[in-house]
Order: sequence, then structure tokens, then C-alpha cells
Amino acid sequence: MTKDELISKAIEAMDLSYSPYSKFKVGAALLTKSGDVYLGANIENAAFGCTMCGERNAIYNAYMHGVTQDDIEALAIVAECARPVSPCGQCRQVLSELFPKNKPIYLANLLGDVKETTIEELLPYSFEEEDIN
Ligand code: THU
Repeated sequence: MTKDELISKAIEAMDLSYSPYSKFKVGAALLTKSGDVYLGANIENAAFGCTMCGERNAIYNAYMHGVTQDDIEALAIVAECARPVSPCGQCRQVLSELFPKNKPIYLANLLGDVKETTIEELLPYSFEEEDIN
């Protein structure tokens, strides 16, 4: 699957967003080495703190299907914003533990802008398992 195809899947995932409060739809698509794609979208709640972001739902969806770091090839995240969507801090922390350090993350918007990055770039000097002892 190409980068553009994965981004298209993330755009499709935006339709699954439940975002009546912010009206800001975020879609994500995680690609595995075997070619499977796991979608995620943001799911909000009247108790705002219960909201779950699109990219975290995508990676949790993958893990719930038995995917682990070694199986992962790429992640695309899309929202309707002026610049390629910027993942929140909580998502960066989760991805820093669950997503491979060297695999591409495509940040995109609906204008066709794409920023290719990695989790190491998005969250340098991250807090890790080794730090707890
Ligand atoms: N949101 C995401 O899904 N991912 C991010 O990284 C940034 C924020 C969602 C959460 C909430 O539903 C809406 O965008 C507005 O913050």
C-alpha cells in the first residue's frame, strides 16, 4: 500500500469520528507489514476528559487484534486543519511506547499537505519503561 493510499484510509476513518463537541474529526490508519490496515477516529464524550484521540484508537485497535511493534509499517493521521495535523502530547507518549521508532508517521490535512515524521522526532527524550526502576 502506498503512502497516499494509507492517507486515503485515514480520511475514510474520519467518517467514524464521534465529535459532536469539537466538530473536529480526526482519522488514522495504521498499516502492518502484512498489509492489514487498522482504523481509528476520535471519540468524544460529554465528560470531555473521557475523549479518545483518533491515532490512539488506531494503535489500540491494532494491538487488540494481536499486532505488536514488530508488525507495524506506518501510520497516517488526518484532520481538517491548515497544516498537517499535529498529534497531542498524550498520543505522542502512547506512540513512543507502542509504535516503532524508525517507521514513518504521515501527518496530513485535507488540502493535500503531508509531513512525514517519526515518533522519535515528535517526542524526543521520551519517558520510557527503562526510566522506572
Ligand atoms: N484529537 C485527536 O483525535 N488527535 C490529536 O492528536 C489531537 C486532538 C481530537 C480530540 C478531540 O476529539 C478533538 O480532536 C479536539 O481536540
